Amino acid sequence: MRKVMIAANWKMNTTPREAQTLVSQLLPALDGITGVEVLLCPPFISTVVVSELIKNSGVRLGAQNTYFEDKGAFTGEISPAMLAGMCQYVLLGHSERRGLFGESNQIVNRKIKAAAKHALNPVLCVGESLEDNDAGRTEDVLGAQLRQSLEGISIAEARGLVVAYEPIWAIGTGRAAGGAQANVTIGMLRRTLAGIFDEATAASVRILYGGSANGANIAEFVSQPEIDGALVGGASLKADEFVSMVKQASTAKG
Ligand code: 13P
Repeated sequence: MRKVMIAANWKMNTTPREAQTLVSQLLPALDGITGVEVLLCPPFISTVVVSELIKNSGVRLGAQNTYFEDKGAFTGEISPAMLAGMCQYVLLGHSERRGLFGESNQIVNRKIKAAAKHALNPVLCVGESLEDNDAGRTEDVLGAQLRQSLEGISIAEARGLVVAYEPIWAIGTGRAAGGAQANVTIGMLRRTLAGIFDEATAASVRILYGGSANGANIAEFVSQPEIDGALVGGASLKADEFVSMVKQASTAKG
């Protein structure tokens, strides 16, 4: 059984003080909700304060990115060795990293290997552009992203892997994919994972949907058999809405 995950990607939002306020609103409201793993991914600068605040809760902490070296002359970068012990997860290959900061599948691959070395579970993000979607290239694009990003990753390393399917055209646009459509695409991703690893590994990897997920559509996604939760951007910055999403996700599988 794959445990449903609702992950918050705060992106470049919240000062440390605002992060503290948001977490202090979330924690009491999330207390007692079962069957969902809640993951918060604040900006790096708030990692320490958030990890202190959530340490006696079941809430998990993730980073939004990492570099692939452990230490050295890499000004401005944060290493997996620095995140290990504080974070359990790290988002890798987000389309904003790929599109705005030039991250290739090869870079994402190095980052996944570095994260695995430090027992950080990668949340590998994949997604197609509107142009690729319109041209019927979704399967090819996503397949290449998965295969190249996961090249040389062992089944043991893949055990903690989470994949997030985030169609670029749905991110921050208010135009979410339909639940049924996302379910078909995520089923295809699972078959690709079976080809890369094996059936058992593919059946155990959680695959989330992301892209304009919110309180009004979360149940439509999580109730789908292939969809194991959501990676939430904008709606995760509103405590009430995010809590409502977690609550709905806790009952959506029936
Ligand atoms: P939105 O939920 O704001 O569309 O962002 C999705 C996303 O990119 C999460 O990583």
